[in-house]
Amino acid sequence: MSFGTGKIWMNGSLVDWKDATIHVASHVVHYGSGVFEGARCYSTQRGSACFRLDAHLRRLFDSAKIYRMELTLSYDEVHDAVLETIRANEYKACYIRPIVYRGYHTLGVNPFPCPVDVAILTWEWGAYLGQDALTQGVDVRISSWARAAANTFPTLAKSSANYANSQLIKMEAVVEGYSEGIALDTNGYLSEGSGQNLFLVRDNTIYTSPLAASVLPGITRSSVISLAQDLGFRVAEEMMPREMLYIADEAFFVGTAVEITPIRSVDKISIGNGRRGPITDAIQQAFFDTVNAAVPDRHGWLEYVYPGEPRAEAVAGERAATAKK
Ligand SMILES: Cc1ncc(COP(=O)(O)O)c(C=O)c1O
Repeated sequence: MSFGTGKIWMNGSLVDWKDATIHVASHVVHYGSGVFEGARCYSTQRGSACFRLDAHLRRLFDSAKIYRMELTLSYDEVHDAVLETIRANEYKACYIRPIVYRGYHTLGVNPFPCPVDVAILTWEWGAYLGQDALTQGVDVRISSWARAAANTFPTLAKSSANYANSQLIKMEAVVEGYSEGIALDTNGYLSEGSGQNLFLVRDNTIYTSPLAASVLPGITRSSVISLAQDLGFRVAEEMMPREMLYIADEAFFVGTAVEITPIRSVDKISIGNGRRGPITDAIQQAFFDTVNAAVPDRHGWLEYVYPGEPRAEAVAGERAATAKK
């Protein structure tokens, strides 16, 4: 099955894709009042497994809290609904898109009278920037658009509204023939791509922008920091001027959609020798080995979907750290 087919979970029921509709007067359509997640289920050597589903759902609940959205569903109910949706569609591997949004009641800026609705979509989604991007890398530009300033749009929330900014960054890049744009924050420091976090390497140290640089707290970002440390690299979360990218030995994007994608040039300046570098290669290898269960799941990041498939021993580890509200 692919995008546009199968079942979607909506407020407690599984409905056909074509029937999963909302009214045009729904608050979210007019005011961007949605928060959502993007996670992946991988077809691993040991069965179908969601990668860090708990961390994604924790961020979903955090995003909803920031926007004062009260879900009528518990954390466990949303979690179980995600697994139910994957199973109903019989996916071995898929992208998972839970969304919490202000629905249909009245149309004023005040969202409180509108219901808080929940839907979960799943579809098959391969390499986001194309399969070649994973090996050859991508050409990107620094965007003329900045990320939202602190205390304007909360960047710790993965809200639909933030993606108006992402669309501007992405469209500008596409129109000018680049794969992606990298935004600076409003102080001029490196922030992130339109839908991915940014890492660079210089003299064997791995750098990424801190949360204060208007970045989304990416689940892949946090996974890469752990994997890099497991491999013995020093990882620094630091404010960086844009020219740090130009003189980097390596640079790469990370995110659920792009996974680990090397960056081979920025503003037409080659990064390193313009090819995937050795540290990017090592991180990519560690990441794909982990999500494909080719190595032991030492962090408890895999949650198997179908009955009879193995349960990661440490799943409880990550879950325990997740506030169940
Ligand atoms: C703006 C932005 N930054 C970073 C990321 C990466 O986050 P994650 O690794 O949780 O997918 C995403 C993807 O959702 C994003 O949209």
